[in-house]
Amino acid sequence: KNSITLGLLGLGTVGSGVIEILNDHKESIQHKTGCDVSIKSVLVHDLNKPRNLPAETQLTENYHDITRDPEIDIIIEVMGGIDHTLTILLEAIEHGKHIVTANKDLMAEHGAELFAASQESGCDLYYEASVAGGIPIIRSIIDGLSSDRIRKMMGIVNGTTNYIMTKMSQEGTSFDEVLKEAQELGFAEADPTADVDGLDAARKMTILSILGFSMPFNLEDVEVKGIRGLSLEDINYAKQLGYQIKLIGIAESDRSGVSVSVEPCLIPIHHPLSSVNDEYNAVYVYGDAVGETMFYGPGAGKLPTATAVVSDLIAVIKNIRLETTGKAYVQPQFSKHLKSKKE
Ligand code: NAP
Ligand code: HSE
Repeated sequence: KNSITLGLLGLGTVGSGVIEILNDHKESIQHKTGCDVSIKSVLVHDLNKPRNLPAETQLTENYHDITRDPEIDIIIEVMGGIDHTLTILLEAIEHGKHIVTANKDLMAEHGAELFAASQESGCDLYYEASVAGGIPIIRSIIDGLSSDRIRKMMGIVNGTTNYIMTKMSQEGTSFDEVLKEAQELGFAEADPTADVDGLDAARKMTILSILGFSMPFNLEDVEVKGIRGLSLEDINYAKQLGYQIKLIGIAESDRSGVSVSVEPCLIPIHHPLSSVNDEYNAVYVYGDAVGETMFYGPGAGKLPTATAVVSDLIAVIKNIRLETTGKAYVQPQFSKHLKSKKE
């Protein structure tokens, strides 16, 4: 096979970044995969919004046009949402489509079902963009550190709240004003309460915990406290005492089990996490053998997130070419999770 046809679900911040990267890096993607890649159809809500699309690409508001189209090989899901999106992706998988998604809400809550369905259909399911935007943290945990026993993961995994706290601290901007800026820049979720109240970070820590500790773990078991109510006075007072306030996710595994929390913490200004600013994320991973590692990069935004999506796409295309789809990236961690949910 030397041509790959895509369906795109969603054409907002991340979707338009995917189109941009596919266009700007066309030759290198062709070189790396041996395939020409084209987008046949894009699902959107509002057909009347002005869009910038390749000539061969059509818009639709009916997801069956994509899930049931026999010409489409891979579906990129960048629309967000949970229940309706799960229905769409399960139908797509039933029709043999490989999936690349940036949707942490869906993966944290239904990753196990999606993996079970995709393995049954021999399809790939990749989701690197679901945690920490442009940082390849999922690959690093699944592949790079697969020989080790991970004990602890800790860090800043929400770009919006980090952007808000950075601007409040550095420029004295009010919470509401800077939240609006983060929305305009495309960092925030469609419903930014998920960012502000720590749920987005909790979902990401759930995914990391399932993968890193190879243990079933449920989102409901994360202790979550967000940054709502944080004032300029709190931030300035912390600064006077030599601290930055950061929203920190902490996941630990020991003999008694796994514990995961998300909460605003006082970080001493000399600590590396205190200088992770704006929409940047950082994830510290401690393994028995490797010791301390740290991953840093842009955690939200159009092109960084789209980079992760398109890298997943390239991996899926390589699997299609090698005829290893549904095999190369089997995730025993998610299977364990499904089993424990059923028990
Ligand atoms: P967005 O800008 O709000 O775009 C969402 C797109 O999906 C829009 O094009 C919208 O259509 C379409 N859409 C939404 N619901 C739909 C429905 N029910 N039917 C048809 N079309 C629908 O969102 P985004 O920021 O790109 O985020 C997309 C996904 O990536 C989310 O899962 C998010 O959590 C994840 N993500 C985002 C970032 C980031 O930095 N933004 C980073 C990592 C992961 P219209 O254009 O017609 O409104
Ligand atoms: N709203 C998310 C954030 C997008 O701010 O981190 C990236 O997952």
